Amino acid sequence: MNNFEFKNPTKIIFGKDTIAKLESEIPADAKVLLLYGGGSIKKNGIYEQVTKALSKVDVTEFGGIPANPEYAVLMEALEVIKDKKITYLLAVGGGSVIDGTKFLSAASIYDGDSPWDILTKNIRSKEGMPFGTVLTLPATGSEMNSGAVITRAETKEKLAMGGPGLFPEFSILDPQVIKSIPERQLANGITDAFTHVLEQYMTYPIGASLQDRFAESILQTLIEVAPKVLKDPTDYKPAADFMWSCTMALNGLIQKGVPGDWAVHMMGHELTALFGIDHARTLAIIAPSHYKYNFEAKKEKLAQYGERVWNVTEGSIDDKAYAAIEKTEAFFHQLGIDTKLSDYTKDYEGTAEEISKRFTDRGWKLGERQALLPEDAQKIVKMAY
Ligand code: NZQ
Ligand code: ZN
Repeated sequence: MNNFEFKNPTKIIFGKDTIAKLESEIPADAKVLLLYGGGSIKKNGIYEQVTKALSKVDVTEFGGIPANPEYAVLMEALEVIKDKKITYLLAVGGGSVIDGTKFLSAASIYDGDSPWDILTKNIRSKEGMPFGTVLTLPATGSEMNSGAVITRAETKEKLAMGGPGLFPEFSILDPQVIKSIPERQLANGITDAFTHVLEQYMTYPIGASLQDRFAESILQTLIEVAPKVLKDPTDYKPAADFMWSCTMALNGLIQKGVPGDWAVHMMGHELTALFGIDHARTLAIIAPSHYKYNFEAKKEKLAQYGERVWNVTEGSIDDKAYAAIEKTEAFFHQLGIDTKLSDYTKDYEGTAEEISKRFTDRGWKLGERQALLPEDAQKIVKMAY
């Protein structure tokens, strides 16, 4: 096991009817900016619960943060923060609203030339404006980590940021919120969380038995609850397992002491930036090709995953590893998620070259050994056509 340090300061408030607890989490004298997305919270009762809990606090609202939070929209919110002298941010939404809020937390105290530099110069935010979240969509884990991904339509870019100052102070997780989530987004959430675990597990053996078993248990739980959640999102028990699995998949715990890959995400982000494909679907497009292309380097963990998660007992290490990739792809299909780029766009020719060029320009070497070069990414994306 590698050496590690672990600190996660986010307070989690989990369970039925917990949104009312907002009242005691936000300082009474705060000037709050309530941030939300395209308006789903106004149709499913979450907005009423939040505003009721905030009735004694000074609140300004900013809605309209789109999926894949857009830089230009966030810059409008930054103006509001300055004009209204906001002191506390509250994100009510999924990963997009929470990530947008993290960007604002950093940007509101950033004194460089342009807040876009936070993304392009990879500035690690050691502090930010305090914020909390009310999670409405289990998927990204953003509610308990310090990372964010911001999109800029003008340049067709989607870049990551983060830092120890960008953990939410608290996150409220009421599994009942999933009732109103459309099936497509539920499938996305399962796929995203599943791939988060794979990125931190599908590397090479490092002798971290507990981290491996944490990771495998999250995968097994997601596989078990997926059909139940899709069939009936009002059923509280699978909803609770689903929500907590998504948070545990990316709150830093299973990453500690082990190598991390994250190349699937880096290639996937480019597909969202270029074609607007939902984040989770880009992962399902890239992952099977990534694991086939890097088969030799990853086959021991692939075989372990095949045995322990998919109960593949027959054959050699290679056989089990290959079966594990097939099971993973079949799982995505079972969720209704297509796994080829050509299923999403007819305009895919040249994509692999474009992504490879972008990675070359950024000087990126990816993967758990930093050995995945732009030309490898080009081949993987081409395999995913
Ligand atoms: O905008 P509204 O109206 O709220 O509707 C949203 C949106 O259309 C809807 N939705 C959310 N909660 C709902 C609901 N609809 C009905 N009922 C509810 N309770 O769902 C749609 C998608 O929302 P979004 O927030 O975009 O989804 P998700 O949580 O999957 O977030 C995706 C974003 O997170 C980033 C992705 O790149 C993408 O930009 N990620 C963030 C990470 C992180 N911070 O750690 C890691 C991830 O790998 C990922 O990259
Ligand atoms: Zn993701």
